[in-house]
Amino acid sequence: MKKRILVAGGTGYIGSHTVVELQNNGYEVIIVDNLSNSRADVVDSIEQITGIRPAFEKVDCLDYEGMDAVFTKYPGIEGIIHFAASKAVGESVEKPLLYYRNNIVSLINILELMPKHGVKGIIFSSSCTVYGQPDVLPVTESAPIKKAESPYGNTKQINEEIIDDTIASGSPIKAIKLRYFNPIGAHPTALIGELPNGVPQNLIPYLTQTAMGIREKLSVFGDDYDTPDGSCIRDYIYVVDLAKAHVIAMNRILDGKQKQASEVFNVGTGRGLSVLELINAFESSTGVKLNYQIAPRRAGDIVKVWADPSYANNELGWKAETSIEDTLRSAWKWQVHLREKGIM
Ligand code: UFG
Repeated sequence: MKKRILVAGGTGYIGSHTVVELQNNGYEVIIVDNLSNSRADVVDSIEQITGIRPAFEKVDCLDYEGMDAVFTKYPGIEGIIHFAASKAVGESVEKPLLYYRNNIVSLINILELMPKHGVKGIIFSSSCTVYGQPDVLPVTESAPIKKAESPYGNTKQINEEIIDDTIASGSPIKAIKLRYFNPIGAHPTALIGELPNGVPQNLIPYLTQTAMGIREKLSVFGDDYDTPDGSCIRDYIYVVDLAKAHVIAMNRILDGKQKQASEVFNVGTGRGLSVLELINAFESSTGVKLNYQIAPRRAGDIVKVWADPSYANNELGWKAETSIEDTLRSAWKWQVHLREKGIM
């Protein structure tokens, strides 16, 4: 019998790639998504890639009764991977209550429903945003948590605490919190990828849309930071490598291999790249020229952050494997696919 996993937010960017990897590793997946920031046809694309159609339920994680009914309809769910959250930093500053409600109530509902339905473990999508600007780089899991720069970032910090407090109170569940660095790229088939609503806020979708001619120019936000070329540095991780970390983490929970009931891992490559280095890598790996300009700094940007992923490497046996060139080619292939399909 295949083990059942519920993926909340499974039609979204990281969620869809994770559903593919779960299915490829013999798990049965039930997707729950309210489609607020994704499309229902992602389910078709997942089926095209894996040959297996995941179950799909259009339910909002804020809807306790609706979620309860999903667990009842699919008995024996063993694990849940919780991606369903709002994630735009700027929007969270304008609409804090929306972010606190969406991101926190969803998690509370899930944590309440897990013991009720015998679900053993949860993998939670956290973020390197919890470190703010780290004092020491690369940043390890034991680095101090800095005051959040945005309501979005605060929801990640609060949610990590909610999970730990719940487990400390005696809830029988297990948890792994994955702190993602900057996920980019798309599935090698170009059948799933990142599809932002409106004008992209993140670097890679803005970059590939500019290369496609949808946007006129990419603005590089600042070239006078304290970094070798003056632009900000991030740890860009290929989304498929990130998806695979979830499968390994789920195996670890279900096989009872955890060292503590709630664990946390950095999921990054360990390599920092500046915005200008990334642009160069895009141009050289795809052969596509990019129109860009240096623009003023963006408010709230961290100057530099990259992961020390050695705890995940050693303890999970997971490592980011894909080169930045292959990753950027996959992002470009996805953008070309969107054009061919007439979506963008
Ligand atoms: N950037 C540009 N031009 C753009 C967009 C981005 O130069 O048009 C730069 C940013 O200034 C930054 C880098 O590209 O230096 C990456 O920016 P992103 O917006 O892609 O990513 P962030 O690192 O700002 O944010 C990401 C996630 C957040 C998460 C955060 C944690 O999007 O959800 O990492 O640090 F909170």
